[in-house]
Formats: sequence, C-alpha cells, structure tokens
Amino acid sequence: MPINRRQFLRRGALSSAGLYLSACAPISTLSQTGKYDYTLTLEAAPFELIPGTQTPGLGFNGQYPSPVLRAKQGQPITITVINKLDQPTTIHWHGIRIDIAMDGVPFLSQKPIMPGETFVYRFTPPDAGTFWYHPHVNSVEQLGKGLVGLLIVEEADSDQFSADQFAADIPLMIKNWHLNDDGSFRPLSIPRYAARMGTPGNYETINGQHKPIIEVPENSWVRLRFANVDNTLVYKIRLKDYDARLLSIDANPLQPAPEFKQHAIGAGMRFDLAVRTPAAGETVTVQNGKGKLFFDFCTLKSIASPASQDHQQPLPTPPLNPLSEPDMANAETLKFTFEWEGAITPADDQGKAKHKFWTINRRAWEGMSKDSIPAPLANLEFSKTYVFDLKNNTPHHHPIHIHGIMFKVLKSTKKNIEPFFTDTVLMEKNERVKIAFVADNPGRWMYHCHVIEHMKTGLMGYIEIS
Ligand code: C2O
Ligand code: CU
Ligand code: CU
Repeated sequence: MPINRRQFLRRGALSSAGLYLSACAPISTLSQTGKYDYTLTLEAAPFELIPGTQTPGLGFNGQYPSPVLRAKQGQPITITVINKLDQPTTIHWHGIRIDIAMDGVPFLSQKPIMPGETFVYRFTPPDAGTFWYHPHVNSVEQLGKGLVGLLIVEEADSDQFSADQFAADIPLMIKNWHLNDDGSFRPLSIPRYAARMGTPGNYETINGQHKPIIEVPENSWVRLRFANVDNTLVYKIRLKDYDARLLSIDANPLQPAPEFKQHAIGAGMRFDLAVRTPAAGETVTVQNGKGKLFFDFCTLKSIASPASQDHQQPLPTPPLNPLSEPDMANAETLKFTFEWEGAITPADDQGKAKHKFWTINRRAWEGMSKDSIPAPLANLEFSKTYVFDLKNNTPHHHPIHIHGIMFKVLKSTKKNIEPFFTDTVLMEKNERVKIAFVADNPGRWMYHCHVIEHMKTGLMGYIEIS
C-alpha cells in the first residue's frame, strides 16, 4: 500500500513553518478566523487497523489516528469538545501547565461532559513541545479504544529558532491495540495482569499503522516526535546504526542536545529527536527493544523533496521552556512510596469486582464523585519548592505523572542522571527517584501512574497547591 500519498508540504495559517506531515497524521482544519480553534467530536467509529478488517473503535472526529492539534506557545487555543459517546467524558491536556479549570479531570476540575453535551476548553500554552490529549473518564476503555491524540505546541517566534529549521516535523504516535485477527477487541484489562505490568496489547501501531514506512525529505534535519499513548507498555527506542540528537524529553529541550543512543518511554511519555536524513532512496530504521533484543518498528525513507534543505545546516536548537528553577536551599522534602497491595475486594452492589492492587503511601485511590472528593496526598504551599522522594517498592515499571506542573528529575538509585525537566518519570522496579519543582500553579492536580490499569486499581491520588 502506498502509504505516503497524502504527504504534502503545508504552509499556511496553522503554522508559520513549512511542515512535512507524515501520511497518517491528519490535521484538523482551522476555523475561518485562522485562530487555533478546533472541534473534537468523540464518537464510536470503525477503524481499519489490521488491513481488511474493522475495529469498533472510539475516535476523535471518528478517526484514528486522531487529529494532530497544533498550537503556538503563548497564543490562545480553543477546542470545542462534543460528546457523542454513550458515556460521560472529559479531555485532559497532558503536560500543559494549564489553568486548573481546563485540566479535564472529572469533579476535581470540572463536571463530566455527559452524552450529548459540549464543553469548550480554552487555554494558552506557556511551553512549546510535544504534548497529548486524552479523556480522564473510564480510561481503560476510552483510551484503549482510540481516544488519544497529539497536541503539538510550536515554539514562539524568536531570532534563534523557527520551526522551519526542520525540513519535516513528524509525529510518531505509538499504541499497541488489543485485537483479535478479525479486528474485534480482546479484553482491554485482565485483573491478573492489572496486578502486574498491565494487560499488553498485541497489535503494534505507529500513527495507526503496523510498521509504517514514512517518507522524509533527503539530506535534511527532520524532527521526530515520539509519543507513547499506549495504556500499558514501555518502549525502548533506538535507531539502527544511525546518529541522532535527543532534542527534548516530555516537551522540554535539552541543551546542548545529547547524542541519542536509546531512550525508554513509559505510557504517556514523549521525546523528540533531530535526525539528519540520508540521501534519497536510503532508509533509517527505528527499532523497539524488548528485553535485550531490538525489533524493527518503523522505517524512514528519504525522498527527493522541495522541502529538502539545499545545504548542510547546523543542528536546530529549540529554546528552553520558561520553567521555574527549584530553590533547593529552601525546599521541603516529601516521601511517596508506591506499593503493591494485592487485595481483590468482593463484588460491589452492581456485581462488579473492584480491584485495589496498588497504593501510594499506603492509600489506594478511593474514587471520586461530585459529593465526595478524597483528601489530597499532600497540601503544597504556592510558590514554594518541593522535593518528592519517590520510592517504587514493586517489581514493575511505573511511569509517574503529575498534572499542572513540570518537575525536575534530580537523581536515581539505578542510573546516573543529568537533571532534566519532565511531566512523567519512568520508575524502574525498586528504583528510588528524587524530583523537585516549584509549586507555582494553584489547583488540585492529579498524581498517578500512567499505566491506566494501575491508576484504575489504586495508583492515583492528587496534590493540592494553594
Ligand atoms: Cu495523561 Cu492524568 O494524565
Ligand atoms: Cu496529565
Ligand atoms: Cu504503574
């Protein structure tokens, strides 16, 4: 199948830069006003994931892959969300340092959007980079069946950097689907797996395709935006015998951008690479590691293109995001321990078993409703610096995420760390990690593991900044 027919150079109101889009990353259209103004309709829709079959998915605008929303740092964006599902939902903008009212967590920050209802999200992203969006209601099913999409915030214009220093900007949205051979869904969650690493899917996709071949303009710097939107898995990405630079982690640039060797991303995590493409006809193979072995994952194929750079340019350097540096001299340290509890509570009155497998500081998530919001895991004072001493007392990975802020990873008991800012940190088994941040965004912010089944079976809570 010629998968890249729809690749095209797009110059227009949406972005100041000429951006080369990967075939399978449709863009939603802008309103007539030319502002960053989108509509997302959540609806049941058939997807063709396994060629020749239909999967009864849930899609944004009935599509998978979902529209890639593009916004600009420091400029308002409006997204009108229409719920045509048969269940409530909300949309969360993962990684955006947002106003709490727009964070998209039911009861904590807004009322659920009921079937048939519309909710308008408006915010101004302070940071540039690769972000994503997803519901925060019934997440095993809503995310698992396709309601996951990328939100790319382009850097504000500056003299040093502009997005068109890359000849192409390519989102790579990774998800492993739970499918039978005929395209129907297998169970998205199996309790004995939820109590371990999570229930893995079995049909690997990048932008909705299995092992895609993605065309890139030859002899040029291109930006690859890897995003793990899977419910469960860790991806360990490398390029096969090819150099690249690690531009950013969870939207935050590294300066200077280090040589890229390999990088592991848990559910919810992203990273950007700068790759200088080879001559037309040559390919670069992206691989994913499982255990000690690496498997081909997708292929970049260089083609002659009007977007190609006509001479060798220096490595483009996106500017740092405007994050507050933690004030370590006056920081307060709080300890958090992630543990396995392993109690299967008896069926509730609807006959459904409620599983609680995981705890944070010995507390499992108690659930939330409009009349009952549990106490926060911690009360933080606005503008003060906090160190979180995170301890994973389990034999499983946990990508730990906090809403509303970016935090700095300082050190780990398992690896040497050059401190970096992120919104989600992947904790290995029995690893202990120290993070720090300035509590500069008031609100009640979710704090959870991004393995969706872990979050649903206890590994979730929130912090309150006031
Ligand atoms: Cu992707 Cu609660 O987050
Ligand atoms: Cu989030
Ligand atoms: Cu977890």
